Amino acid sequence: MSRSVVIAPSVLAADLGSLADQVTAVTEGGAEWIHVDVMDGHFVPNLTFGVPLLRALRRVTDLPLDVHLMVERPETYISTFAAAGANVFTFHPEATRHVQRHLDQVREAGMRAGLALNPGTPLALADEVVGDIDLLLIMSVNPGFGGQRYLPASTAKIVRARALLDRVQSGARLEVDGGISRETIGAAWQAGADTFVVGSALFGADDPTSEVRELRNRCAFKA
Ligand code: DX5
Ligand code: ZN
Repeated sequence: MSRSVVIAPSVLAADLGSLADQVTAVTEGGAEWIHVDVMDGHFVPNLTFGVPLLRALRRVTDLPLDVHLMVERPETYISTFAAAGANVFTFHPEATRHVQRHLDQVREAGMRAGLALNPGTPLALADEVVGDIDLLLIMSVNPGFGGQRYLPASTAKIVRARALLDRVQSGARLEVDGGISRETIGAAWQAGADTFVVGSALFGADDPTSEVRELRNRCAFKA
């Protein structure tokens, strides 16, 4: 079995005054995606980015933009985010009602459809729509802020999420977000994750370029 690793640096932790340089640095390290955290001050107690930042990123990188919506009624943004250059559109089922319909709408808009689950949200919410997703995001912190500690219970949830995807032979990526660092990425990988959002551990490193490689090196199969 081969499982490719995707490292998705979160620009939430980047120096926005040097955004283009920061994106270049992680790209040189081999990062595959750029993760963009959209927060509305309602679903989570913080405000961040929207369409202007997506457009700015689209101008400076060809990497897929992995957009994580921590907003109420995420469906409101499907068409505008697609037009702004988003490639992966991941939303929380806790924030909306007609999850299956909106997953379809995301795909119809030409993006990959992602479903994100908070730490306190049962994996069962993904069960009924597993055929409709291209990505399952297991939150390993309560969303809203970078720099939080990886919740240890996330590892067992990743194991169960991997089993769910494998059971239906889903090709969806299994992403983990929150507190990922040199110390935690190996456990998340061994548990079955293949896509890693990294914010503060990457942009806070002395050399973000080599840190991408350090993180990737910790994703290896057990002998
Ligand atoms: C948290 C966001 C994360 C955040 C991760 O609500 O969804 O993507 O940027 O930051 P770190 O890696 O610092 O935990
Ligand atoms: Zn995120």
